[in-house]
Amino acid sequence: MTRREPSAVPPNDGKASTPMRKATISISALVAAATLVLTGCGSDAGTGNTTSAAANSPAAGATTASETATGETSTGAESSASSAGSETSASSAGSESSGAGVTGKVGVILPDTTSSTRYTLYDAPLLTAAFKDAGVEADVQNAGGSTAKYTTIAQSMIGAGVKVLIMDSIDPTSGAAVEAMAKKAGIQVIDYDRVNLGGSADYYVSFDNELVGKLQGQTLVTCLADAKITDPQIIEMDGGTDVDNNAVLFKSGAQSVLKPLQDQGKLKIVSDSVVKGWNVNEAAPTFTQALTANGNKVDGVLAANDDIANAVIGVLKAKGLAGKVQVTGQDSGVVGLQNILNGNQCMTVFKNVKLEAEAASKLAIALIKGEDPAAAGIKVASFDDPKGKRTMKAVLLTPQVITIKNVQDVVTAGALTAAQICKGIEAKCTAAGVK
Ligand code: BGC
Repeated sequence: MTRREPSAVPPNDGKASTPMRKATISISALVAAATLVLTGCGSDAGTGNTTSAAANSPAAGATTASETATGETSTGAESSASSAGSETSASSAGSESSGAGVTGKVGVILPDTTSSTRYTLYDAPLLTAAFKDAGVEADVQNAGGSTAKYTTIAQSMIGAGVKVLIMDSIDPTSGAAVEAMAKKAGIQVIDYDRVNLGGSADYYVSFDNELVGKLQGQTLVTCLADAKITDPQIIEMDGGTDVDNNAVLFKSGAQSVLKPLQDQGKLKIVSDSVVKGWNVNEAAPTFTQALTANGNKVDGVLAANDDIANAVIGVLKAKGLAGKVQVTGQDSGVVGLQNILNGNQCMTVFKNVKLEAEAASKLAIALIKGEDPAAAGIKVASFDDPKGKRTMKAVLLTPQVITIKNVQDVVTAGALTAAQICKGIEAKCTAAGVK
């Protein structure tokens, strides 16, 4: 078993960071977990989760789960509530008693609709479908970036008698408070995608988020080399490291690749900015400031997700630099994939949310039935929460790199159709073999 201590990179947000601690995940358990979920969803989805980049990366066999405490308060998440239709509410019409022999309802709360297209594009429909397919009633809602709304939704779900609450929190403090309410009501909680450090959920379903960052860093280096850029200057655009442990892990994974190269004089990280609270409205001004401070010189941008990347690309376009600068991303949304096909973004990370939704739904159903997840065939591994000084049971899936060479993998996995990706850029799709 390989264990690795992540590089201790404090969030560049002026706040004190809690030292990172190592949490060890059983590799065989993780592989088995991924296999289990893959088995459950057919060969197409399996193709999407086991291919080249992740498997070829040096990190692929060294899955570790490491986490840090993040900041205590939510800022940008709250303010983003106003900027979009803040609710994607969906309920499967399943009956209380179902084909799965399950009596009991599940509540799912997603954080916002603006920090990533994933929540409306992938999570809400896929979680709804997973429960519907299992014949289990589910109420899937989105808090629209408001912690107050998140709490209200949770209260109403608890009042409606949900048996399990699946939570993708806005920040760990408000998340942990909701978890405490649920616990008091005897409701089991699954942390979904984002962990609430210091909370009380027993279960956690996500991707290997340190690996996500590592893949971003590694692919950025490859893209720079392919573009024959020597002595590259890099601007880092982190996501909400102040509110989301995933963002801390993305950064830590990327730094584990970039920092040693900087130390060897092979590249220069000229600045490191944080889009606080994952508030994507702040991404363009934050990037403009960093770019201006470096005299408009940049070769690569480590953008934490596709939505931040898209804001960065907007600024680069205005300066006539788009296409010349290597930009990373994450989430494999339509906009990110189109930016890749148009030559403005060099990679994204595909996290097959279908697998994540299915793992969460299977786990929820086992919990409703009172089954031990292991007995129900769900392989969980240990995940340490240093803030809460406790160990959670986790299922962590494997992310995959997407570049212009394998956009088709996203279609093959069934996440998006070629028509969705190619609308308006059909010729680019044909050239890249997307069909
Ligand atoms: C998720 C990413 C997402 C980001 C912003 C993270 O916790 O893992 O997929 O892009 O939040 O919503």
